[in-house]
Order: sequence, then structure tokens, then C-alpha cells
Amino acid sequence: MASVLAVPLLLCLLASASAARFAPADNHLLACGATAPAVLPDGRRFVPDSGCASTRLRSPAPTLPSAASSAAPQPTPLHAAARVFSCRASYDLAVRRRGYHVLRLHFYPFEPALASARFHVGAAGFLLLHNFSASAPVVKEFILPVHSDVLVLTFVPESGSNAFVNAIELVSAPDELVGDIGTLVTSSGTDQTNGLSSQVYEMLYRINVAGRKVTPFNDTLWRTWVNDERFLVSTESSNSGVWSFGGRIAYPKGSRLMTREVAPDNVYNSARSVSSQGKVTWGFPVSASSRYLVRMHFCDIVSKALNELYFDIYVNGQLAVKDFDISGATGFLAYPYYIDFVVDVEDEGALKLAIGGSKNSRSDEVSGILNAVEIMRMNRTNGGIDGDFAVSLGMEYVASKGIGEFARSLLCGFIFAGLLLVLLMLVVRLRTELRNNGTTWSWQPNDSGDGKLARAYQLVSTKTDY
Ligand SMILES: *[C@@H]1O[C@H](CO)[C@@H](O)[C@H](O)[C@H]1NC(C)=O
Ligand SMILES: *[C@@H]1O[C@H](CO)[C@@H](O)[C@H](O)[C@H]1NC(C)=O
Ligand SMILES: *[C@@H]1O[C@H](CO)[C@@H](O)[C@H](O)[C@H]1NC(C)=O
Repeated sequence: MASVLAVPLLLCLLASASAARFAPADNHLLACGATAPAVLPDGRRFVPDSGCASTRLRSPAPTLPSAASSAAPQPTPLHAAARVFSCRASYDLAVRRRGYHVLRLHFYPFEPALASARFHVGAAGFLLLHNFSASAPVVKEFILPVHSDVLVLTFVPESGSNAFVNAIELVSAPDELVGDIGTLVTSSGTDQTNGLSSQVYEMLYRINVAGRKVTPFNDTLWRTWVNDERFLVSTESSNSGVWSFGGRIAYPKGSRLMTREVAPDNVYNSARSVSSQGKVTWGFPVSASSRYLVRMHFCDIVSKALNELYFDIYVNGQLAVKDFDISGATGFLAYPYYIDFVVDVEDEGALKLAIGGSKNSRSDEVSGILNAVEIMRMNRTNGGIDGDFAVSLGMEYVASKGIGEFARSLLCGFIFAGLLLVLLMLVVRLRTELRNNGTTWSWQPNDSGDGKLARAYQLVSTKTDY
């Protein structure tokens, strides 16, 4: 009897386990400069960037692998090695499925020379990082549309510097990750805005409100969500509460818009609440003169019945939604939901988000909630995301940098060509020595040609005589 019951249960569990696993069409995981694959605690295997069939590294000069001192234990296997570029260099990453991709670049400066490196990074025609320097370990994440079969990821060192990278992830994003419509919040009110699905995003903050840190191990898109406490601006405990939910998050069945890839259970099952009289405010440091996408996640894990919560949502000091009726939006309890706000921040400082209570709510104690927040910087122009640079890292970029940069890459090319030539000469010399059975090979030219280059040409031509 028990086994009869157990079989459907097991099938059910298997079905939910397989449904939970997101299988991206493109999943490049590169350990740059590494000599052996690196396996992370979340089970993902990063392969060395050399000798990988679907990736090609192009550079006019040798790109050196660099290894961290093995004396100090590394926090993760990806900290152990890096690839260092002295000249502009590109990775060509094969793309099987066009559309949005998540690109993560890992920078772990294990040497002072890496920590002081200044460089630019571009991909798919966008300047992603401008004059970037990683003085501390950092992972930069971008969500960008790829419209070709190859994503070209380019590193350009700033004059007198190197560029480096420790690891690269390029993963197909599920379609539901980026929507097209958002709410534009300005000082004169709110308006619907379209075209969100053609922008490039730099992920800045991914916050699990009142919850534990969620690591890539527990996120099907290998994201990291951190607790919100250090971003809280006002913390009157009488006006807010902390909630965690042991039940099941009611992801809509078969939905193509709301899945665990938007945000996992571990993110929706915690929340911070605001009382009907209160206001809870968070502040996130951002740079000025940029446009941001603010995704606020809501999931009513606190109510016993529908239509109990009504609350106001503030974005950048503006009232963005008045008397938000979460039950009206979802129709169910414990049902995940999010709203995308678009906001321009002109002044340096913090981007403030808040939830405020409403007298329409059923209870005084809990009027509204927030479960999670994501803040992304959007491209301001067609070419740049990191500041207002209307340039891409193509030839326009080289041109805009002036002839200096161009000459530098040419010089790099010449040095490389020179090295090749020397290598060729050594090979020829070795072969000559072998042929002459030990007779010493001499540099004396046997013609009147002058200069090393003439000799080199002669060497090359005599080689074909063999
Ligand atoms: C990059 O930053 C350094 C230090 O702030 C500065 O000296 C340099 O001019 C900057 N380069 C560009 C191209 O902005
Ligand atoms: C994953 O989530 C479960 C359940 O919340 C938790 O017990 C576990 O510690 C998490 N593991 C990691 C590596 O974060
Ligand atoms: C960002 O880039 C996309 C693609 O080039 C473009 O369609 C969009 O208008 C840009 N956004 C802004 C704010 O310029």
C-alpha cells in the first residue's frame, strides 16, 4: 500500500526536480589562464580558456596566463589564475541561441600589478566597462542582447597598463528575465515606457529583503542575492516587521512570464513589512547621470486572506504607485510578482526606494511588503553603459582614442611579428644544424646583403630549398 502511494509521489518529485533545472542553450564557463578545469561549490565546471572548441582568443601579442601564489589558499578555484593582456585582445564566444545573455566577468586581483590595472571592456558593440580597475575582488554582471552567432568580448588596456580577467560566464537568459514594458518614474509623475527588451543592463544590486544570502548553489541562474539590512535607511522597528514563510511559493503553472528563473523560492519566502502608519526606506549608492531599472519583487506571504494589503511604493523620492493592491495584481496568496520601474538619477548619492502604509489596508500592523529588489544600470546611448560614452570598442573606439592607441596596437602587432620571426629563425637554425650534422651554424652572410632583415629573408628562402 505504501509503495503504491510512494510511486506517484516519487514521479511527482522527479517531475518537479527536472522542471526546476534551467538548461541554457549557451553556457560558456571559462577559467582564464588556468591550466586545469575549476569546479565551483555550486557544481559548475569552468574550463581553461585555451583549447576550448567554442571559444577563440584573438590577440596581436601573447596573452600571458598568470597564476596566484599557491602559498596563500584561494577563496575559490577561480581566484587561482588570470589571463593578462598587454594589448587589445578579444574572445570570440560562439552563440547558439540569439537573444538576451547573462555575462559575468570575474576579477580577482591577486597581484598588485593586477589591482592597479586600468582597462576598458566591450561586448556586442557596447562599451561595458570604461577605465575600469578592480582593486578588490569583484564580479561584474551584464544582461545584454546578442544578435549574432558570435559574441566578441574585447579587453583594451589603458595606456601604460595591462588588462586582465580571471573567469568569464556567458549564459543564455530565459525569455522571461527581461520584459519590455516598465513604469517610468519622473518628478512630474509616472508613465508607461516600452523598449526595455533592447537595452543593455549592468547588474548593481540584487537584494533578498529580510532573508538570507542566496548563493549560486540555490539559484537556477547562478545569481547571488544579499540581505538588505545594510541598505536600510529608516529602521523604526515599531513600523516594520520581518517575515519568513515555510510554505510553497505559488509559481503559476506553465507560465512563460513568471518562473523560478525570475527569482527563486528562497528570495520570495522572506519579506519586510510596513505598518499602515509607517514608511520603510532603503538607499542604494549609485552614480549620477544614469538611468536605472529597479525591479521590485512582491509576494504576499504574510496575509491569511486576499485583499488585506494596500501600500504606496516610492522610487527615488517619487510616489510611483498609490495604494498598490497586491491581491488585485496576483489573484492568489504566496504568488510571486514584480514591477519594473525606470528612473533617471541626476545627482550623486543614493537611489532611495520605500514602501509606505495605507489606511486602506485591513490591518494596522501589516499594510505592505517588499520581498526583493534588483537594481540595474541601463545604457544611456547606443554604445555605452559605463558613463556617457557614445563609442563602441570597434574601430570607432580606436579612432576616438586617437592615433596613440592605434599606434600602440600596431606596435604590439610588430612586436609579435618580430617574436614569430625570431622563432622561425631558431627553427631553421635547428634544422640546419641537424642537417649539417653538428657543424656550427654561422651568422656571417655569404652575400653583400646588409641588415638583419635581409639575412632573415635569405634564411626563409633557403628554407624552401630543402
Ligand atoms: C582613467 O582613469 C585615470 C585615473 O583616474 C585617469 O588618469 C585617466 O585619464 C583615465 N583615462 C580615461 C581614458 O578616461
Ligand atoms: C540552499 O538553500 C537551503 C534551503 O534554504 C539551505 O538550507 C542551504 O544552506 C542553501 N545552500 C547554500 C549553499 O546556500
Ligand atoms: C541602448 O542601446 C539599444 C541598442 O543599441 C538602443 O536601442 C537603446 O535606445 C539604447 N538606450 C538608450 C537610453 O539610448
